Amino acid sequence: MASFTNLFTSYPELSSTIISCFFFLLFYYKTTKKSKLPTNWPIIGMLPSVGLNANRLHEWGNEVLKESGCTFKFKGPWLLNMDYVVTCDPANINHVFNVNFSNYPKGDEFVEIFDILGDGIFSADDESWKSQRKRAHYAMSSSNFQRFVTKCSEDKVENALLPLMCKIAKGGCVVDLQDVFLRLTFDLTCNLVFGVDPGALSEGFPTVPFARAMDDAMEALFFRHIVPSFWWKLMRWLNIGKERKLCDAWGVIDDFVAQNIVKKKEVIIYGCDMLTCYMEEEDPKATDNKFLRDTTVNLMLAGRDTTGVALTWFFWLLTKNPRVKSKILDELGELLDEKTYDTSKLVYLHAALCESLRLCPPVPFERKCAVKSEDLPSGKIKSKEKILFLTYAIARMERIWGEDCLEFKPERWISERGKLRYEPAYKFLSFNCGPRTCLGKHIALTQMKIVAISKFDVEVVEGHVVEPKRSIILHMKNGLMVRVKERREFM
Ligand code: HEM
Ligand SMILES: *[C@@H]1O[C@H](CO)[C@@H](O)[C@H](O)[C@H]1NC(C)=O
Repeated sequence: MASFTNLFTSYPELSSTIISCFFFLLFYYKTTKKSKLPTNWPIIGMLPSVGLNANRLHEWGNEVLKESGCTFKFKGPWLLNMDYVVTCDPANINHVFNVNFSNYPKGDEFVEIFDILGDGIFSADDESWKSQRKRAHYAMSSSNFQRFVTKCSEDKVENALLPLMCKIAKGGCVVDLQDVFLRLTFDLTCNLVFGVDPGALSEGFPTVPFARAMDDAMEALFFRHIVPSFWWKLMRWLNIGKERKLCDAWGVIDDFVAQNIVKKKEVIIYGCDMLTCYMEEEDPKATDNKFLRDTTVNLMLAGRDTTGVALTWFFWLLTKNPRVKSKILDELGELLDEKTYDTSKLVYLHAALCESLRLCPPVPFERKCAVKSEDLPSGKIKSKEKILFLTYAIARMERIWGEDCLEFKPERWISERGKLRYEPAYKFLSFNCGPRTCLGKHIALTQMKIVAISKFDVEVVEGHVVEPKRSIILHMKNGLMVRVKERREFM
């Protein structure tokens, strides 16, 4: 930020022009504006409204889509290629993610923005994506792997999370639950990807440079979405601001995965983890260091933050909805009476988790790009035009989820006969939809259930403000400060 300020102070004429323009626009905007839709200014397009709403982009996106009927054309400044079709319309989602999937790859700009992911599965398209998906699916779907993940998660909760929470409860101190959960899911994801537990969730909360680097990287990637591309490229070239943080983070991330890959290659501690599975393949490309680097970085990004923040929002929603919490405990009590300990029987808990993921999707938006122009259900889309899907807004549309859409109501996921109700993924995009549906959905839900039924309870510290952070993952900006209580009901 300091170097950014320097840039302004060294060119006083430029900065005073920019500042007076800004105030003029602000004044104009405040006095003429009634509708929530952004004004399309000559030359600069709708960019000023992004600036004005920079601190509440998710809510703003939601308001704009509500007023415009689920689809909105965002106009960026001239010549800067920042136009987007912004939508949360299930018909569009179904079309793009299912019906005409092949016309909507991630696109070159995605690869450019998410350069840190290399050629991994997230930014891959076509053949590369197909073969990577097949491989990842193969590695993750074996019952051996699933058992391994369940066992690791149960052990970790029993031996690390619970003792820590009990200790915090006894000490009566305040803790950031988001930090705790991100440490937990970091250890869990490292274990399933590399077969090692780095011990981020241990007493004294050791600093974990890799985890910190991921946070910095994700913030920088978010900013690449809301500033013109020439701007972030210039900052990258000058190595300043968020781009500098990203560059440092990249180094830390690469070091971490390289160390783990080397260890695995030398010592060959074969386990049930994904890296072992990949390295056992005959294909020389599958054991190539660049390929393993990209794959493991992608999997770390896929698993750690998503599940960590999903748990945080879930616990927060429970503190605000005691009715749901007691119904979860009732169901758990009945299950324990039966003496069979199978989390897949917890229908109400499953519904509550889906409901939490609906309202607070860990991946709050997704982007695609059209190859050829065609008709979307909401209207024409041009070749090379970009589409932004606001997952966060889908849950908040009355026309999609009904008048009670803002309420936390697990019941909407349960049928009259008490079974789980199926909701199509184009209405519930939290795990994506169509051929690119999240491969870790089952793993994530299993892990979340194991944490949700463990014996501690939390109470949010009074006055703590919960709001989303500006990132590509729906982190809580100020964390979630809580006091912990032991839960004795089932001991
Ligand atoms: C609550 C937790 C999770 C949520 C909300 C979630 C959500 C998502 C979403 C939205 C996508 C699509 C991203 C895109 O295409 O841009 C995705 C893809 C993916 N997820 Fe997850 N995920 C979660 C947990 C996991 C876990 C634990 C793993 C495995 C370690 C995982 C593995 C993957 C993979 C490999 C893909 C890429 C699929 C493809 O492109 O074909 N996810 N996930
Ligand atoms: C899919 O997109 C192509 C353009 O790539 C278009 O010609 C075709 O009609 C679309 N198909 C459907 C089913 O909408």
